[in-house]
Amino acid sequence: MNYITIALAKGRLAKKAMEMLAAIGITCEEMQDPTSRKLIFANEELKFRFFLAKANDVPTYVEYGAADIGIVGKDTILEESRKMYEVLDLKIGQCRMCVAGPEDAAELLKHGELIRVATKYPRIAKDYFYNKKHQTVEIIKLNGSIELAPIVGLSEVIVDIVETGSTLKENGLVVLEEVCPLSARMVVNQVSMKMEHERITTLINALKELVIERSQKRME
Ligand code: PRP
Repeated sequence: MNYITIALAKGRLAKKAMEMLAAIGITCEEMQDPTSRKLIFANEELKFRFFLAKANDVPTYVEYGAADIGIVGKDTILEESRKMYEVLDLKIGQCRMCVAGPEDAAELLKHGELIRVATKYPRIAKDYFYNKKHQTVEIIKLNGSIELAPIVGLSEVIVDIVETGSTLKENGLVVLEEVCPLSARMVVNQVSMKMEHERITTLINALKELVIERSQKRME
């Protein structure tokens, strides 16, 4: 039996995703050791391998088949736009992609003015402003702390992830428009989906049931 390799976006998402996999019986003890410098971990019995990667790199590993499966945020999937199947919404890491800025920037958005938009997500921002709003803007790519941009005068607005909203609030900014909802998704390499169809669909179905179970519990 071949290994099925799963790439996980480093950080909070990976922890939650591993908990979900454990709940359907796919565990990885090796991965629990915080002192380990190993990059790839295996469950020899079930023939699964796991590795952590920068979120932006997860779709790359999956498209090229270096990972059969990836677990990564919808923001990264949209931004990287790789060829792969998006098969399941895991309903973890839920947040929103938003246009944000100081309150008075709302006027600039209303009147379709040529404004500067700072973001870590130039493709998402471009698609939103050019294709959905038909507004010409200047996109400025940044790599983090995006909320700084309108404060120091680099841009009029930002396109960024909003989870609790506290980063915006603490910096005197507000959500001006919502671009799309986000959450962690499972993605699958197109060839792996054919070659390992049975094992991969069994995994998808078990996780699907878990997602439904969890959302029913939340509603109770
Ligand atoms: C993300 C995002 C916002 C913040 C939103 O940043 O870019 O800055 O979290 O969360 P909140 O609505 O709960 O305040 P992250 O911490 O990933 O770091 P970054 O600024 O380097 O992108």
